[in-house]
Amino acid sequence: MNRTSYCTELSLKDLSRRVTLCGWVKRSRNLGGVGFVDLRDSSGVIQLLFPLGENMLASGCAVSREDVISVTGVVCPRTAKNVNPDMITGKIEVRVEEMEILNRSLTPPFLIEGDGSDTTEETRMRFRYIDLRRRRMHDNLALRHRLFKGIRDYFSTRHFLEIETPVLTKSTPEGARDFLVPSRIMAGSFYALPQSPQLFKQLLMIGGIDRYFQIVKCFRDEDLRADRQPEFTQLDLEISFPHGKEEILDLLEGALVELFRNELAIELHTPFPRLAHREALARYGSDKPDLRFDIEIQDISDTVRGSTFRIFTTAIASGGKIAGINAAGCASYSRSAIDSLKEVALNAGAKGLLWIKLEEQVTSPLSKFLSSEEIASITAKFSARQGDLLLILAGNNIEPALGVLRLEIARREKLAGNKEWKFLWITDFPLFGVDETGNLTTEHHPFTSPQKEDEGKLEHDPLSVLSNAYDLVLNGTELGSGSIRIHSRPVQETIFQLLNISPEEAQRRFGFFLHALEYGAPPHGGFALGLDRLVMLMAQERSLRDVIAFPKTTTGLCPLTESPMPVTSAQLEELRLDVKGP
Ligand code: AMO
Repeated sequence: MNRTSYCTELSLKDLSRRVTLCGWVKRSRNLGGVGFVDLRDSSGVIQLLFPLGENMLASGCAVSREDVISVTGVVCPRTAKNVNPDMITGKIEVRVEEMEILNRSLTPPFLIEGDGSDTTEETRMRFRYIDLRRRRMHDNLALRHRLFKGIRDYFSTRHFLEIETPVLTKSTPEGARDFLVPSRIMAGSFYALPQSPQLFKQLLMIGGIDRYFQIVKCFRDEDLRADRQPEFTQLDLEISFPHGKEEILDLLEGALVELFRNELAIELHTPFPRLAHREALARYGSDKPDLRFDIEIQDISDTVRGSTFRIFTTAIASGGKIAGINAAGCASYSRSAIDSLKEVALNAGAKGLLWIKLEEQVTSPLSKFLSSEEIASITAKFSARQGDLLLILAGNNIEPALGVLRLEIARREKLAGNKEWKFLWITDFPLFGVDETGNLTTEHHPFTSPQKEDEGKLEHDPLSVLSNAYDLVLNGTELGSGSIRIHSRPVQETIFQLLNISPEEAQRRFGFFLHALEYGAPPHGGFALGLDRLVMLMAQERSLRDVIAFPKTTTGLCPLTESPMPVTSAQLEELRLDVKGP
């Protein structure tokens, strides 16, 4: 019996048609001598009717959940009382004439049409092939496919070539650990899986390719979170002779406008807003601020400069500041709610949390130390009104903790709508940061160019040098990042030197690339967009695992295949490897 139709293709216009359908038994039931089976295929569900007394009823009753069947029958209208408005095919059913059982199923470990509460994520992952039968997973993977196709079409019509780059390669520093693959032929040597195709796409520009893109797997051994997977997919791109960073930002905005228009019927407004990194930190305490709500950090150092309150004077004397946010309408928070906010602030690095509640009366632990005029001038600075709660921190580098409090208030007050799409670009990042040992580190990667006017400060004041890097943020998630690159060997060498990479080490790790820069490297720049994150946000999911067919758990395991796993001693022997034990 060859399939003639998918379940949800059928409707009232197909009445009396004889069709053959194939799929899985969602459920079967015998009602007063008439058998019903809900049949599911990749398109959705339709009701099958096994009529009484035509030998079919017994067959209808003989199938159970997730058995695979093929049926031939006639499309019929449902009686008025049987119409199901919740089903796409709710007005019809197929009156079965023949049925073949193609395969039997064991009882599945969880309900496919359920809400997931009857199982754990670990079980879903272990039986991923069953989990993938869920409508939601199917829709997410279909969305992913259409977005990828849209991206390929968009860049192909703009003279980009999609070019693959190696997977067995050398380390590409993107701030994570490498996954290593031992070489059998060169025993004792290792390939690294690419953290990104960064150096290869730059080499493609040196190779005269002009415009490159690739939908590419990247691999990073780092601590996992809901928005991080050890292997993930980027839209990676690079162009030669860019008209500054503007050309790259325009290209990406154009791609996103098309994807949102075609998939969600949403018209994004361009250009997306831009914020300098320093301003993003000062106003929102984050380099990926969520702009769906407009709580902003207010610096009140000047307002309280005259105060003798020790916490304020100490903060100012040590070069820090006093700043806070207005949690509008939150004055009704109980003492324990405020205590839990304090916990949030402490976990984010704050030393304590000060607050002012504006109810009928103003209440605050500050009342013991500040005059009512001083408190009034603080509330005025926040433009606070009755009903508001001010949360204030004092000290050095308090912005990140204020940023966390900002998100916490938004979470508690449900300020971030899931139908809002707030894109923004973060620009003017510092080129360097500092690690715990006081060494310079890169804010992006070591191939990012310094801004032209700051190049002179590289040697004597590197921390003040701004870079030509830019990040794309959507609703508080970093979606992607890119930069205009260094295309001169001496500048690249200076950066390595500043990063404490000796000339010998630079030669060992990046010699091939430094050499390539000497053979006519054109000015170039590019970007990488995290596609799993984009699909996750567009599908309104909370975890990357819901938009990747076969993801890893937060501990980096694949419960389905049980990888990673030990290998045989013969394999280790071949690779000349010794394993010290778990
Ligand atoms: P970056 O390291 O910022 O830049 O990565 C670009 C984007 O990739 C996504 N991403 C991830 N998604 C899921 N899981 C992960 N572990 C993960 N890590 C990163 C994010 C991120 O914004 N070569 C540069 C780009 C360039 O300069 O052109 C790069 O890879 O959405």
